[in-house]
Amino acid sequence: MRRPMVAGNWKMHGTRASVAELIEGLGHLALPSGVDVAVFPPCLFINQVVDGLEGKSISVGAQNSAVESKQGALTGEVAPSQLVDAGCSLVLVGHSERRQIMGERDGMLIRKFAAAQACGLTPVLCVGETLEQREAGQTLEVVGRQLDSVIEELGVGVFAKAVIAYEPVWAIGTGLTASPQQAQDVHAAIRAQLAAKNSEVAQGVRLLYGGSVKAANAVELFGMPDIDGGLIGGASLNADEFGAIIRAAGN
Ligand code: 13P
Repeated sequence: MRRPMVAGNWKMHGTRASVAELIEGLGHLALPSGVDVAVFPPCLFINQVVDGLEGKSISVGAQNSAVESKQGALTGEVAPSQLVDAGCSLVLVGHSERRQIMGERDGMLIRKFAAAQACGLTPVLCVGETLEQREAGQTLEVVGRQLDSVIEELGVGVFAKAVIAYEPVWAIGTGLTASPQQAQDVHAAIRAQLAAKNSEVAQGVRLLYGGSVKAANAVELFGMPDIDGGLIGGASLNADEFGAIIRAAGN
């Protein structure tokens, strides 16, 4: 059985004061024991969050990390080894906002993925199609290619220690959610793609859905056989709403 995971991607939100408030709210949540919970604050607040959540079983991750694992001359970047030192255990790789707005391509993402794993961080590889691609019937091809680039370069075995998040770009921050069946179809295809290379890895890897997940739609989404939890954006900035989503994954 795969253990469900619910992760909150805070994106570029927060001030020291609002982060303190959110930490306080998270601290009061009664977390179900069967769910892994993680938050991804902006890098600037990682220390504050790690300290503030001490003793609470919530993992902390970064939204991005450098292509090199060790510290060095790379202005503006944060090394995965520095994230480990700060108390992180996870890192997002290839979020669509970084692919689209920051121009990150598969080659760079593969390096980031490998550098993160080399330091013991668990990469959360984000994949997903745009609305245009979905309407052109290219969803599985696009997602398959994003996944394949990592498999080809690093081997399928790397997913024994990684998480995959399917985040349709058209559902991110738009209020549009993939229907449970639409999400399940893509998740099943991702798992089948991995299973064709290694069935044990495919059965073990957690596949999260992301894109306008809220407490109101989480139960249905998480009820699908290949959806093992969620990567939550906007709704994770509200501790009570995030808590309700976590409980939905525990049911
Ligand atoms: P929203 O939940 O705000 O749609 O964001 C999803 C997301 O991009 C999480 O990484």
